[in-house]
Amino acid sequence: MDRMMTLVGKVAESDSSVVVTGETGTGKELVARCLHANSSRRDALFLPINCGALPEHLLESELFGHEKGAFTGATSQKPGLLETAQGGTVFLDEISALSPSLQVKLLRVLQERQLRRVGGRREIEIDIRILSATNDDLEALIAKGTFRSDLYYRLNVITIPVPPLRDRLEDIPLLTQNFLEQLNNKVDKQVVTTTQEAIDVLQRFNWPGNVRELQNVIERAFWLTDSDSIVPQDLPAKLIEDVQPAIDASLPYGEAKRVYLEPFEKGYLSRLLEDSEGNVSRAAEKAGLHRSSFQRLLKQHGVRSSDHRT
Ligand SMILES: Nc1ncnc2c1ncn2[C@@H]1O[C@H](COP(=O)(O)OP(=O)(O)O)[C@@H](O)[C@H]1O
Ligand SMILES: [Mg+2]
Repeated sequence: MDRMMTLVGKVAESDSSVVVTGETGTGKELVARCLHANSSRRDALFLPINCGALPEHLLESELFGHEKGAFTGATSQKPGLLETAQGGTVFLDEISALSPSLQVKLLRVLQERQLRRVGGRREIEIDIRILSATNDDLEALIAKGTFRSDLYYRLNVITIPVPPLRDRLEDIPLLTQNFLEQLNNKVDKQVVTTTQEAIDVLQRFNWPGNVRELQNVIERAFWLTDSDSIVPQDLPAKLIEDVQPAIDASLPYGEAKRVYLEPFEKGYLSRLLEDSEGNVSRAAEKAGLHRSSFQRLLKQHGVRSSDHRT
């Protein structure tokens, strides 16, 4: 992340096109905003556009605008988003979703710094910086023939890869504190810290949804906790159950097995209670156990049914 931020600092002022790559939720849009905020265009618009969100013809008229009568429903003239962002930065998210014909039109914008609205004849001069993002391997798409290599070279003067959260678990305490502060400032509830036990749980998960998923987990825990700190019980059961504990061969057999199985016990019981909305009798029935033995297990593993009542 330090190397990435150094790169962001160097590239921000360059006005070059940049492709930000990385899994979903890693912070690609945040990086793009950061590039814009540190560029000479900072006082102009930053315009994010998701290329995967609209069907081709709608995206085309959104991006390039249209003249009156260009197609059925084009009752008036409308400038496109690329025009609207004059002087600023356009962030094209999910760039790999661009259709072949839009790829050609975008290439023209990058090469000639001009565009024509749909149904228009006039060339419009365009002064924008284009940043884009993808979680696909664009070079593989080029090899497959679905992404133009000439567009790729124009877009990708510089690549900034954003690492997945699982490769920088040491960021979790900082990110968590940052999200808590944001929430504390926003609403009338104060949660000041996360216990070390909860941080340990967070750092053992593999975060397929990356920072966005962490943010959701912290927001949920913020609302669930009864105290001024977040404890493991405030975290979703899947975080506890998806964890593969390490086998500790320095312990005697019984002890090593107990340590290894503890996350299973906790995860199983929590998940069952979550599914039964904290109803112990129903959870015990699903587990095929007597209510009293089930209660004993809960107590033994420190799982509280009240945490799972909705
Ligand atoms: N380093 C970070 N610090 C604080 N918040 C972050 C960080 N990285 C990502 N986020 C937050 O995580 C969420 C997902 O980030 P986003 O940039 O939309 O990811 P992507 O575009 O890669 O899917 C956003 O709410 C963003 O503010
Ligand atoms: Mg995004």
